[in-house]
Amino acid sequence: MTDLNDIVDQAKAAFSHAATPADLENAKALYLGKAGRLTELMKGMAALSVDDKKSRGAAINLAKQAIESALNDRRKALANAELKLQLQAEALDVTLPGRQRGAGGLHPVTLTLERIESIFGSMGFEVAQGPEIETDWFNFTALNTPQDHPARSMHDTFYVEGGTESAPHLLRTHTSPMQIRYAVQHVKKYRQASGVDDTSPLFSGDMPEIRVIAPGRTYRVDSDATHSPMFHQCEGLWVGENVSFKDLKFVFTDFCRTFFESDDLVLRFRPSFFPFTEPSAEIDIQFQQGPLAGRWLEVAGSGRVHPNVIRNMGLDPEKFIGFAFGMGPDRLTMLRYDVNDLRLFFDGDIRFLSQFQ
Ligand code: DAH
Repeated sequence: MTDLNDIVDQAKAAFSHAATPADLENAKALYLGKAGRLTELMKGMAALSVDDKKSRGAAINLAKQAIESALNDRRKALANAELKLQLQAEALDVTLPGRQRGAGGLHPVTLTLERIESIFGSMGFEVAQGPEIETDWFNFTALNTPQDHPARSMHDTFYVEGGTESAPHLLRTHTSPMQIRYAVQHVKKYRQASGVDDTSPLFSGDMPEIRVIAPGRTYRVDSDATHSPMFHQCEGLWVGENVSFKDLKFVFTDFCRTFFESDDLVLRFRPSFFPFTEPSAEIDIQFQQGPLAGRWLEVAGSGRVHPNVIRNMGLDPEKFIGFAFGMGPDRLTMLRYDVNDLRLFFDGDIRFLSQFQ
């Protein structure tokens, strides 16, 4: 029977050399296949006597079982090895830190706008929002700035499609159009509520004071370290029967001192010109402490609302008087955080922005 033992040994050796399932199946064919070594031995049994056939057959069967079991062992071993490789390739290192999204935060200019809203809110001012694409009427004409007015050249702006040649649409150059938009709505509301059958175009009845701020984006053809084509403004408007420059000064001084958390901050109202106010003043502030101490810094324009503008609000200038101001939240942000280049606010660099969280 040594021939059978040899075959079994050779088969086992061939199987253990097979490195892949395909090699193994090829090796199997050599021993168990139709033309394999064992099959050949079976065929050779035809010439044997009945007794010899029995014992030879039993021996061949034992050899066959031994080869099949070696084959199955090797199949399992190869399958396990393959699985192991696959698991290694797809391995997850559960000890690695997860990939996280930061919590994010508010933009420094947004922080300023929120601050402005809350300070003026505490002084009884509403907050109004308006469109960034404006009509020529609200941006200029209604604000006492007619077509050929020299002040329009300072406001060279971005005109957009829509509107007509004589009344084009444009990106608003300031938030002042919101003075008209807000006042017109306010007047309409109280005029209707008063129930008076008043046919005059200008309202001179009773209404609560207008006290509003209107923050938002504005646009101009301007770009350098302190000017950006898109920038922010915040308009303020206070209209009533008994409002004076003194009130404006008081409110704005209070605002600046609260905003900058500085009780000794000094304000200066410097005569200036705006078509929609008369008289007009530029508002400068001066810190008494810190790196900017002693310098006058311009933060807003202001003035008494021009009677023509009061009329365009639908109000009788004989009865109502208004005060307005327009300030630059970008500039307030630069002063508050000591930032010297406005463009940093709009570059979107996370290294800069994350410092304000
Ligand atoms: N709209 C002006 C500008 O953009 C700023 C301004 C000045 C607004 C005086 C006002 C004001 O309300 O009274 O330059």
